[in-house]
Amino acid sequence: MDILEAIRLRHSTRAFDGRPLTEADHKSIASFIEATAPPFGVHARIELIQADFGDERVKLGTYGSVKGARDFMGLIYGEGPLVQEGSAYWLEQVVLHCTSIGVGSIWLAGFTHSSFAKHVKLAPAETLGYACPVGYEGGQRPLAERIGLWNSKKLHAAKKPFETLFLDAEGQPLTPQAAGDWELPLQMTRIAPSAKNLQPYRVVVTPTACHFLIQPSMGIPSGPGWFSHIDVGIAMCHFEQTCLHQGIAGSFQVLDDAPTVPDRQYVISYVRS
Ligand SMILES: Cc1cc2nc3c(=O)[nH]c(=O)nc-3n(C[C@H](O)[C@H](O)[C@H](O)COP(=O)(O)O)c2cc1C
Repeated sequence: MDILEAIRLRHSTRAFDGRPLTEADHKSIASFIEATAPPFGVHARIELIQADFGDERVKLGTYGSVKGARDFMGLIYGEGPLVQEGSAYWLEQVVLHCTSIGVGSIWLAGFTHSSFAKHVKLAPAETLGYACPVGYEGGQRPLAERIGLWNSKKLHAAKKPFETLFLDAEGQPLTPQAAGDWELPLQMTRIAPSAKNLQPYRVVVTPTACHFLIQPSMGIPSGPGWFSHIDVGIAMCHFEQTCLHQGIAGSFQVLDDAPTVPDRQYVISYVRS
């Protein structure tokens, strides 16, 4: 499966069938983690945690809730510029690898940190930021879905329109037709996972560069913009991996003279080479 197929197939899995990862799949994920690294030289680790929480009251998912997971990827990161973007980029690469081998996954901000903490040794400046259950889709759907309070499929399909997320050099809505060869990388960006499906990033598109901006955090945990740095890192992964696949040469650079967008904070630009 190539990266485009994996991006198109990926969706958040909230019902796992209770089976632990097979030895082959566990090995494949561990080898992929071993062979890759987060971009921008940031400090991050991904720990594969095998945990059967049994009767322990573990919160898995603040809103959708998750059932039947036995294996988890824990994303641990340090401090410094672009650390959330870089570590999110990397975990999303692993998520897409999981999709490509038939392993379902879901990013979780809402999980009981203390239950996971005993499986992970943190250095002083490290944070266990996100847990990502991995396994085989199936089994009973979480109660919230069965009684109709929640619908994973509908949420997956409810991504913001292309013209909302992507803007031209004047800050006006960009159509797919006007995006030129950036269209496919942008389409693949649009379907990336995002906390609460808020998609808080915007991309200003010019022929030579795509500039990524985010909704700034108001400093309120889980409030507006709280997950922006993680969400944009995931979006950047989908974007650059598609560029690599399409042979669109370029690299991420932080520019001094990037365009501005009202109420958005500049993060980084993908500059064509
Ligand atoms: C950083 C991050 C945190 C998330 N946290 C949760 C969570 O706590 N509970 C949950 O049910 N889904 C969580 N999700 C999954 C999103 O709800 C999901 O990506 C979004 O609804 C889009 O659906 P899709 O992933 O199927 O495309 C999270 C996603 C991201 C990227």
